[in-house]
Amino acid sequence: MQESDEPQLPAEATAVGGAAFDGLPGVADALGRALRDLRISVTDRCNFRCPYCMPAEIFGRDFAFLPHAQVLTLEEIARLAAVFAAIGARKLRITGGEPLVRRDLPVLVAQLAALRTPDGGPLDLTLTTNGSGLLPLAVPLAEAGLARITVSLDSLDDAVFGAMNGVDFPVSRVLDGIAAARSAGLAPIKINTVVRRGLNEASILPLARWARDEGLVLRFIEYMDVGHSNGWRLDDVVSADEILAVLGAAWPLEPLAADYRGEVAGRYRYLDGGGEVGVIASVTRPFCGDCTRARLAADGMLYTCLFAGSGLDLKTPLRAGASDGELAALIRATWSARADRYSELRSAATSRLPKIEMFALGG
Ligand code: GTP
Ligand code: 5AD
Ligand code: SF4
Ligand code: SF4
Repeated sequence: MQESDEPQLPAEATAVGGAAFDGLPGVADALGRALRDLRISVTDRCNFRCPYCMPAEIFGRDFAFLPHAQVLTLEEIARLAAVFAAIGARKLRITGGEPLVRRDLPVLVAQLAALRTPDGGPLDLTLTTNGSGLLPLAVPLAEAGLARITVSLDSLDDAVFGAMNGVDFPVSRVLDGIAAARSAGLAPIKINTVVRRGLNEASILPLARWARDEGLVLRFIEYMDVGHSNGWRLDDVVSADEILAVLGAAWPLEPLAADYRGEVAGRYRYLDGGGEVGVIASVTRPFCGDCTRARLAADGMLYTCLFAGSGLDLKTPLRAGASDGELAALIRATWSARADRYSELRSAATSRLPKIEMFALGG
């Protein structure tokens, strides 16, 4: 970003907006929530076909993913991220699709790692991956400045994992990737496990035992009604209460305070000192009240909710030569008007509203 073109925060956004939320400068939405996290989808493509996200029957060989010309370049992404940082974002999470299929990702990581918050500190820079391509990339990503990483892993059993990833990808290669991330110094390593009834409930305890032994922060995610392709039914959701009951019967637990305001995972500590475990209960315990997340899709659309049906096109003004200040004004205006709280309102009626698929808007 050019020095002379730094987006200027209006006084009211600084004093009343973000500050009222968490004491930091920034812009607040219509419900008082500050814009603190930017989730950046670098591609809508993925080498997995998890049935809860990109079922193979729908996303086959002929599926039209974004043409390359419509995908933001790494420089465009970095420029937009700088604008978000200038207006108060403090965490950047690289997602997809599967982000590691994007070529030259370490180049982007280096650009993002160089960004600073308005008070001069580094941003929390992390990435969520399916782990399949992590083995060769862990060192280049860490060297480029990635601080930590989250790996999705739904089972330690090859047959179950194969069904959950839709392409029979073996568990061992994800474990190799996790080991590589650890040796590269990425820490903490978090593991995300989506639990889907009838598919991987039996994987809960083995995964928890493994994560305890390995010192990894495991979080179980309730299966969500994102997009329209996964045929979501409430009956398929294994609730956080059920998951905690299974875990607690094996190893007694006590709740922990959130690490930061707006944390999506409810955290628990094993009383025997076996570390911590989390549940992300978007269905049974919605957390919209503190939702500080914006999502930048690979095509430059900005979405203010995981369940959004429409967004703000940032690519067109960006490519038409808009200044950083103009881009900041567009983002601020969209965020200020935001009143999303889909998970709190979730009902049969809201479920039918148009929604963009999760891989397209950035998980
Ligand atoms: P930390 O920074 O490590 O605390 O990460 P996080 O828990 O915010 O991020 P992560 O990307 O690992 O999120 C875990 C999962 O929570 C996502 O993959 C989604 O399934 C879900 N999730 C994250 N953000 C939202 C959100 O804003 N709304 C809903 N409904 N679910 C979300
Ligand atoms: N419900 C819950 N979590 C989901 N994810 C993808 N689709 C869903 C869904 N329908 C998770 C992935 C990954 C993260 C990016 O989002 O497993 O951990
Ligand atoms: Fe790919 Fe992640 Fe979606 Fe699975 S959940 S299909 S790994 S983007
Ligand atoms: Fe945020 Fe929307 Fe998720 Fe609620 S449903 S937590 S508003 S992204």
